[in-house]
Amino acid sequence: MKPDRLSSRLSLSVAVLGLLLVALLSALAYFSLSRQLDGIAEQSLKDKLQQVRHSLREVAIRPEVGSQTHNIRDLIQGHDSLSLTLYDDSSPPKELMSVGLMQAPLQPDAAIPAEGIAFHYWQDEQGKALLTASQLFQRKDGSRIRALLTLDRASDQALLRAYIESTLIALPFVLALIAAGAWWIAHRGLISLNQFRTIAERVSTDDLSHRLPVENLPQELRELANGINFMFHRLDGGVQQLSQFSDDLAHELRSPISNLIGKAQVTLSRERPPEEYKRVLENCTEELGRVTRIISDMLFLAHVSHPAALVPFERLRLHEEAEKVAELFSLMAEDKQVTLKLSGQATISGDRLMVQRAISNLLSNAITHSPAGSNIDITLSTRAANVTLAVSNQGAGIAAEHLPKLFERFYRVDNGRSRADSGTGLGLAIVRSIMSLHRGQVSVSSNLDATTVFTLHFPLPQPDAEHGKNRGHE
Ligand SMILES: Nc1ncnc2c1ncn2[C@@H]1O[C@H](COP(=O)(O)OP(=O)(O)O)[C@@H](O)[C@H]1O
Ligand SMILES: [Mg+2]
Repeated sequence: MKPDRLSSRLSLSVAVLGLLLVALLSALAYFSLSRQLDGIAEQSLKDKLQQVRHSLREVAIRPEVGSQTHNIRDLIQGHDSLSLTLYDDSSPPKELMSVGLMQAPLQPDAAIPAEGIAFHYWQDEQGKALLTASQLFQRKDGSRIRALLTLDRASDQALLRAYIESTLIALPFVLALIAAGAWWIAHRGLISLNQFRTIAERVSTDDLSHRLPVENLPQELRELANGINFMFHRLDGGVQQLSQFSDDLAHELRSPISNLIGKAQVTLSRERPPEEYKRVLENCTEELGRVTRIISDMLFLAHVSHPAALVPFERLRLHEEAEKVAELFSLMAEDKQVTLKLSGQATISGDRLMVQRAISNLLSNAITHSPAGSNIDITLSTRAANVTLAVSNQGAGIAAEHLPKLFERFYRVDNGRSRADSGTGLGLAIVRSIMSLHRGQVSVSSNLDATTVFTLHFPLPQPDAEHGKNRGHE
């Protein structure tokens, strides 16, 4: 079962890794030590054989004259771990002399090179580890003597055994130390996460002002903290926007509804002729129509401002769309005696209904604010960087100080007059949201008592029109 805590998991993983590494290193050290010992043993046998060879030059060895070989015996005796056996080169070889306790088995000739020394690692019946060096000596009289020098490697064995024992004893302590160190480092590194938790516990929709402290955090956690802070920032903005939205809605609905209640109360305060009731009811119906428009405009605005509003864009000929909208407004234009003129061609990729809605909001404003007998121009053009649709009308124009606020929700230049025009003050806010959904913009320029121009700027259409997934949004 995996431990729950991240620090425990990390220390366990590091401990397992540590175990593997320590085991690998110990094995490497063991093999290198044992090779080193072999090298030393071989070298000591070589040196000893050198001395034996030297002594053999001096002495004539005959089996019957044992005393003459005392020189060689002296070389070996006193060394408990060494044994020497000399054979002649007859077949089968005859033992000439043997000093020491260990009797090395005679190697087949093939294993003993004519020159140089052959080493043979073996074990006796008691399992004692031994090393035998064999060499052929050419003597002055032409005869050959084979020397087998054997070394008891008990001390080397003991050294290696002691090494393994001490490694095995130290291993658990080393591992415990590694695990504890890893746990402490992981624990210290993760302490900052507790701060994250404390802040997260404090955050609510009522208070999104908390931010994670990013100073003194390690790089990875700093990036995480920055990401979370940015998320808080956006949530804060969104929540403020929502609460502003509902405040605006309540504020805008309050006055028409209290108007309605007031009117109804005054009318009911005494008996009135039927025509008056009729007039009041007509008035109320008009006011209720405005309330309905506000509600449906707010709902549309909420829909446009929501990412779920994204549907795949299609390729739209702006001329055709503007023509359809102008057609719808032809009666209203006729009433106000203004002429609608459409010119230019352009193609965009967008959402048909939304684009129509944006054009109609601009057109209805233009007609509302145009003097009788004037022209309204809808001009389409494709430029290097974008596609534009401009709606221009004559009239009183808009004072410069209003221009920056014009696209805010419920903002009206002349509240009294706009109310009479039954506008909701949401038309341009909707246009702005639609344009931002299309990665575009809306701009306005106006001269007092002259021309007012609202321009929609669309990005150039992509070669393939289906790119709805990449759209931006307010
Ligand atoms: N073409 C225009 N000429 C003069 N003023 C305009 C024009 N278009 C918009 N406005 C001003 O901008 C205000 C906001 O417009 P809008 O958001 O459509 O709200 P509404 O039309 O409901 O009043 C309008 O009340 C009006 O004062
Ligand atoms: Mg309007």
